[in-house]
Amino acid sequence: MRMTGEIAAIHEIVRSLPRPLGFVPTMGALHAGHMHLVNVAREECASVAASIFVNPLQFGAGEDFVTYPRDVAGDSAKFEDAGVDALFIPDEATIYPPGFSTTVDVGVIGAVFEGALRPQHFVGVTTVMTKLLHIVQPDVLYLGQKDAQQTAVLRKLVRDLAFPVEVRVVPTVREADGLALSSRNAYLSGDERAVAPNLYRALSAIQNALRAGARKEDAVAAANLPAEFDIEYFDVVDADTFVSLETLRTPAFIIGAARLGTTRLIDNIWIAA
Ligand code: PAJ
Repeated sequence: MRMTGEIAAIHEIVRSLPRPLGFVPTMGALHAGHMHLVNVAREECASVAASIFVNPLQFGAGEDFVTYPRDVAGDSAKFEDAGVDALFIPDEATIYPPGFSTTVDVGVIGAVFEGALRPQHFVGVTTVMTKLLHIVQPDVLYLGQKDAQQTAVLRKLVRDLAFPVEVRVVPTVREADGLALSSRNAYLSGDERAVAPNLYRALSAIQNALRAGARKEDAVAAANLPAEFDIEYFDVVDADTFVSLETLRTPAFIIGAARLGTTRLIDNIWIAA
């Protein structure tokens, strides 16, 4: 695996790799969900590039940018073992040099749900992904369904601005008890970890109610969580636009977000067309 933090150097490295080139962007603190993206990219592409960059622009004031788990040595070993060919690990000044002021905004889809609770979050995501895609120039971008709204936002970015890349969304990797793997699960106390799978159970309950013919409103209203959780939202949305659906129309996502102590958990279930 070749590894660099320099734009010109990663450009040279990826230009020498056989195509198609798959790309797995991450913020590090790698877990089996990230590695699944790499494995799928490995199967589908001749070469795989990855990146690690904890992107300050997508964290709001008071969020966990400073405390976000970082382990570049451990992460690069994991990427190397998984067969990644090129790893880009830029520092902040490489991505945001002095005077940087250009941002990319996809509009309404980035302002609802996660975007409403985390203003400017998706502008940070789309801006850094614009830059990473220009630098790495992959043929296929691999994203996890775990961050469903992020996948919809980035598919829109790629479509609206004609990025020459195919977006592949890979199913969520879960613990045996249903909890979606997340770098932020490291923040959970033992007690919180024990109740955390209830978020996925609540989403599954909404899915079952919809399958049984319940109206969306009633299905969502029936979802409950133990008292330890502060619910932020549950809803059923159009998979492409993230518009809240009055009546179920597929493809859709059942989405949920809740706070457990100081940790924000998000999860979703895909309803295929
Ligand atoms: P990060 O949270 O590190 O996630 C990197 C990729 O791994 C994302 O596409 C995410 O959806 C995927 N992922 C996370 N948990 C997963 C799970 N349990 N199963 C499958 N895939 C999972 O998402 C980001 O970084 C950033 O916003 C980024 C896109 C890199 C831009 O900064």
